[in-house]
Amino acid sequence: MRRRTFLGLLAAGAGLTRIAPAADTALLVAEMTLEEKLGQLAMLSADYAVTGPTVAGDVSGELRAGRVGSLFNLWGREAIRAAQRIAVEETRLGIPLFFALDILHGFRTIFPIPLAEAAAFDPALWEETARAAAVEAIAAGVDLTFAPMLDVARDPRWGRIAEGPGEDPCVADRFATAKVRGYQGSGLAATPKHFAAYGASAAGRDYAAVDISERALAEIYLPPFRAAIDAGALALMPAFTDLAGVPLTANRALLTDTLRTDWGFDGVVISDYNAIAELTRHGVAADTAEAAALALRAGVDIDMMSRAYRDGLPVALDRGLVTLAEIDTAVARVLALKARLGLFADPFRRAGPVEPAPPPRALARAAAARGLTLLTNRGDTLPIETPPARLALIGPLADAPADMLGPWAGAGRPDEAVALLPALRDVWPDARIDHVPAVPIAGGEPARIEAGLAAAVAAATRADHVLLCLGEAASMSGEAASRAHLSLPGQQQALADAVLATGKPVVLLLFSGRPLILPDLFDRAAATVACWFPGSEAGPGIADLLTGRVAPSARLPVTWPRAEGQIPIAYAARPGGRPENRNDHYTSKYIDLPNSPQFAFGHGLSTTSFTMTDPAAEGTGPITARTTVANAGRRAGTATVFLFLHDPVSIISRPTLELRRFTQVTLAPGERREVAFTLARDDFAALDAALRPAVEPGAFDLHLGFSADPAALRTIRVTVA
Ligand code: BGC
Repeated sequence: MRRRTFLGLLAAGAGLTRIAPAADTALLVAEMTLEEKLGQLAMLSADYAVTGPTVAGDVSGELRAGRVGSLFNLWGREAIRAAQRIAVEETRLGIPLFFALDILHGFRTIFPIPLAEAAAFDPALWEETARAAAVEAIAAGVDLTFAPMLDVARDPRWGRIAEGPGEDPCVADRFATAKVRGYQGSGLAATPKHFAAYGASAAGRDYAAVDISERALAEIYLPPFRAAIDAGALALMPAFTDLAGVPLTANRALLTDTLRTDWGFDGVVISDYNAIAELTRHGVAADTAEAAALALRAGVDIDMMSRAYRDGLPVALDRGLVTLAEIDTAVARVLALKARLGLFADPFRRAGPVEPAPPPRALARAAAARGLTLLTNRGDTLPIETPPARLALIGPLADAPADMLGPWAGAGRPDEAVALLPALRDVWPDARIDHVPAVPIAGGEPARIEAGLAAAVAAATRADHVLLCLGEAASMSGEAASRAHLSLPGQQQALADAVLATGKPVVLLLFSGRPLILPDLFDRAAATVACWFPGSEAGPGIADLLTGRVAPSARLPVTWPRAEGQIPIAYAARPGGRPENRNDHYTSKYIDLPNSPQFAFGHGLSTTSFTMTDPAAEGTGPITARTTVANAGRRAGTATVFLFLHDPVSIISRPTLELRRFTQVTLAPGERREVAFTLARDDFAALDAALRPAVEPGAFDLHLGFSADPAALRTIRVTVA
């Protein structure tokens, strides 16, 4: 039988490999009807039944007809096997499906949201959690994840800031490499998304227009994608948005010229959900056929959900808007991905029986703790080393397991997530814990709110320690969750005011997918921890930090604004001709607020203190900068050391700080260690007027510090030859 021959040929690439069996895919493509080709380009979602994901009746019909090439939102080996069997045994050519899912921060065991993980500033951790997620996902039959999400974001109104690595391209670059290695090293194909500049959506509104300079695109938004492609990512997803009027789904300059020609990407481009059909709403296509033609010609291989390729490409062919060769190219790429996934060698390789592995709960607990960012800590409030006798645990997020998972919780289950209340019962078995949710996260009836506030005040008054768990529901960040007001939702501010009015020292535990604007609470709480959404082991991770079992080590991967009016905000800004001067009216400032943020990028307290001495540098390119970091406190801790660069005089004005390196040192009390960073000559390069990297020899400032707060940086002037 002919079909077996082709499948046999493609079976050669059994592992996850970067080498595409081009000749063999071409042979198979030559055998296919147009309908079969369009089937390979169609990706559909499975249904979610109460008992788990299933293939809906109408999707099975489409599978049987060979009209689907890949499915997403389906997992579980049995379900995958059933769907794969239809593709392999009941379609004419028997081409296997691949199965995809959004695995952003864990499959079933959920790690902290990416923004929280970024706060750990540890590429080894980023890689390890990706690997653990991949192992779990593959055991459930999944072939590909729609991750990592690499959108640099400087606008916390945008809910999707939660899904990515924060504001800085250097951090995002390292994050991209680590995640692609972690996923693909374990056999799960990665799909960096959303290419590109989605994070710059106007006014922080999801799906809104994007209009940024080519320089900003090249310097800020593209580098993490380049890193992901260099790390071997097998797929990529364009953003829903446009860039200066050209939707990314139709953006040939980026999807073909930059991605494929300049960067050498030879993987598969998968549209975002329904994005091809939405080209008509963008106003760049008159109908489905035009939309399909624009996307295909731009370089989009797979149509996720819109059916625009199926319905539109035949018409586009008739109208001469696309050629069969263009369709064949996309089909060949999809087949090559399937070959790289080893699916021709064994379509059931991720659908056979598997030994259940223990879930990576210990890693989830450690990762949860490593994302917890200690923002304030007056008078050594934390850690609470002596178990409390009576504890008031107040607020709607103290026992909200589902919310602990955050947005994009994969196959994570609320009943397997541990919130703070049970974790504290565990670590402080003798403490009397008064748990008072007091108010819902949002909404609530006035009478019940009043009663809730009264109960919270009573509990706080009786307690020797008060923990206040406030913030957002998981659904308030992530996709389509932009917020114009970044204050506490519902009646939570009233709850905080009431509890603080008791005069008890209050530890504020803040759950959110973004920085929140709560200026007075940072001043009034005894300590504040940005917990973000810590995942399945939220409670134990937070308890580890509260009790001092784990020292806080996270640092902010985003600048934390004082007010919505400062947004967009990032530490890396060009100085302008009239930098802020409070004594000079005609300078760049607000008349009603300092320019400085609430907390700088990189801010995060330890429960010890660190010093940095003897900064020095040697060389003229490469240049090595050194400093000695010492633990001057009485507890062990981890310092994060940042190296920023500034070119004080350059043809193109440069930001006053640009991150080039970061590292961590864990030190016992009294211990000191030298930290050294070597910058190659290329690290001093910036994009010239033609957007080509160039080094302008001369003086540069290297700034070493524990955050981007300019007041605390140590500066070394160096000369690049
Ligand atoms: C999101 C993507 C996601 C896709 C599939 C879209 O709405 O923008 O990030 O991968 O859905 O779930």
